[in-house]
Amino acid sequence: MIIKAENLKKVFGNFVAVDGINLEIPSGQIVGLLGPNGAGKSTTISMISTLYKPTSGRLLFDGKDIVKEPKWIKPHLGYVPQEIALYQTLTGYENLKYFGGLYGLKGVELKKRIASVSEIIGIDDRLKDKVEQYSGGMKRRINIGVALLHNPKLIIMDEPTVGIDPQSRNHILDTVKLLNEQGMTVIYTSHYMEEVEALCQSVYIMDHGKVIASGTQEELISQSDSHTAIHMTFDVSVKEYLARFKEIKNVMAITQNTEMDVSILASGNGNSQKEIIHEIMSMDIGLVSFDVTKPNLEQVFLKLTGRGLRD
Ligand SMILES: Nc1ncnc2c1ncn2[C@@H]1O[C@H](COP(=O)(O)OP(=O)(O)OP(=O)(O)O)[C@@H](O)[C@H]1O
Ligand SMILES: [Mg+2]
Repeated sequence: MIIKAENLKKVFGNFVAVDGINLEIPSGQIVGLLGPNGAGKSTTISMISTLYKPTSGRLLFDGKDIVKEPKWIKPHLGYVPQEIALYQTLTGYENLKYFGGLYGLKGVELKKRIASVSEIIGIDDRLKDKVEQYSGGMKRRINIGVALLHNPKLIIMDEPTVGIDPQSRNHILDTVKLLNEQGMTVIYTSHYMEEVEALCQSVYIMDHGKVIASGTQEELISQSDSHTAIHMTFDVSVKEYLARFKEIKNVMAITQNTEMDVSILASGNGNSQKEIIHEIMSMDIGLVSFDVTKPNLEQVFLKLTGRGLRD
């Protein structure tokens, strides 16, 4: 295990942000930390990155205690914070140069690393422009580049695709895969289920400071084998009907995706799904379409928490 957390806890004042979690991050994997706002994802990885000291518990990097000795992890860790941390009035190149210097890189070696990193993040041609002129996606990519300069063994990314254009988003996802293929371990936090599904070999689902489930995607999904997802689209807003849907037998949880579009998690067999659909049709709300699918990570999450990730 490259990272091991034992009973890790972080308390701010009297608020427990991370509540005694255990993590085992195998070397060479992309591991997802999935959870809604406030779940404790950033706090957890801030402790792994040694930015926050745990209130209690142990944190090991390659078997070495990094709470006592952050120096064991620092040279091997790249950390991409949730908030962009760059000098806006410097160019992309100057930012990389500055942060490379902080890692102790200089001269030819620094130049080589900047060249290599800018190829990975794919913004070679804009490096001479000031960061303030970049799009959100480009800033994000430079932020990732900064974390890669010293060629770390482990990279931790905190929601790296929030609020950016689709092209940058795809580029970042490809970058994560590429880095992992080259042997880098990745801890990836997100509340986008699709990203975690596409990238991560194993997943920790967090909510209210606790790990509520973990395992490979297959393991997590098999926990919800007896459930199905019914996706329904209406021609009117369904908001005021949600409470009534929740009352229907075998409805476990509901997420409203858009105003006219809901996902219902149902337990039981095919008959219970038919009953649910029948009952909703009889409410005469204007059901346009529905489909029934096997559970995916989103349904696992719904089952565990009773609510959607983006509530
Ligand atoms: N420095 C702090 N002082 C006090 N409370 C904090 C601090 N940092 C985080 N918290 C609280 O701890 C909880 C967990 O926050 P954290 O940022 O770890 O969540 P998260 O899972 O990263 O959420 P998000 O998806 O919104 O980024 C939140 O309720 C937050 O308000
Ligand atoms: Mg966060």
